Amino acid sequence: MRGHVRTRLGEPRPGVLVSDGVTVTTTAHDGSFSIQPTGPFVFVTRPAGFTSENWFVPAALPEFDFVLDPEPDVFPHRFVHISDIHVGAGPRLGQLYPQPVEIGTEAALTRFLTRLPELEPDLRSVIATGDLTDLGLDEEYDALKSAAAASPLPLHLLPGNHDHIAGTLEGLVSRTGYALHTGDPAGYERHLGPRWYSFDLPGLHVVALDWHTHEIGLDHLVQDAWLRADLESVPAGTPWILLSHDQPWTSILDGLPWQPVATFSGHRHTSRVVQVGPTLHVNTPTPLFGALDFSPPSFRVVTWDGERIALRTRTVDGPARATFSVPEVPAAAPAPRAGATSCPARRTARPCGWPATWCSPP
Ligand SMILES: [Fe+2]
Repeated sequence: MRGHVRTRLGEPRPGVLVSDGVTVTTTAHDGSFSIQPTGPFVFVTRPAGFTSENWFVPAALPEFDFVLDPEPDVFPHRFVHISDIHVGAGPRLGQLYPQPVEIGTEAALTRFLTRLPELEPDLRSVIATGDLTDLGLDEEYDALKSAAAASPLPLHLLPGNHDHIAGTLEGLVSRTGYALHTGDPAGYERHLGPRWYSFDLPGLHVVALDWHTHEIGLDHLVQDAWLRADLESVPAGTPWILLSHDQPWTSILDGLPWQPVATFSGHRHTSRVVQVGPTLHVNTPTPLFGALDFSPPSFRVVTWDGERIALRTRTVDGPARATFSVPEVPAAAPAPRAGATSCPARRTARPCGWPATWCSPP
């Protein structure tokens, strides 16, 4: 594929990264590029201060000119991190979890996104780190896209394991011993495009990966090679952050030319921030329902001031600063009554879906 990267006014943009998700090239002085794609898309790394309506295109196009639209930026830069919105839709809505409230909907996501500017002014974008849909179904992707279209803020999306299950509930053990779902990334690509990519904020390079397919070994070598090529295409030592559905660990971080200043993830439906060496790992719960650690629906406001990442955690419908207490949990579940058909461990009055050995009646 040949083409150019230009601004809306037609000005050529040299030094912009263009990639097919495998190799990375840089535009010449006249904004031109040439790449022989082997991946399904060709995408541009949007420079700081620019956005683009069409930042990726099918790799089969012989020519394409990427157009960048200037985007006034406010520095320090502030964005919101959310995760695991699990948008469900259609006849299988809520099928996966026994509690119907543990799922997102188009209406709930639309309400959250449209309220964000009033909840937090001066935001530039929203980053959602995977499990965007609950079962990876077409109707769920359609609901997600409808909610995203109503968002007053740009969204940066990346996949989680639920986005790749394509309606199945088959499990596997990953190459590093992680219990996960099987994965088929075709649905995500058909609806949302590249599963790994990069873009730039002022003084900060941002990289998104597909953690699930990396973890189960569908394309980890390709992603590893692309990540290195991407980093080697920006000035050495550039501060960068890594977006990944689960907290990236040694299988992703080992061997990188330099480490990210922060990673942003979800997957665990918990609120947790840890510093490991030079990297702050930020694990954020969902804003659409309560998390597994009893934290309420929440989101993080992230501020980049050019030197460091600052975080502020907010509840969606509660106080501006999240505080909560953990309810007392019994030391042991009560013994099941004779003839009981409910699940004592989860105290549901109907089958809960866990393996029968966990809650079988006597
Ligand atoms: Fe999730």
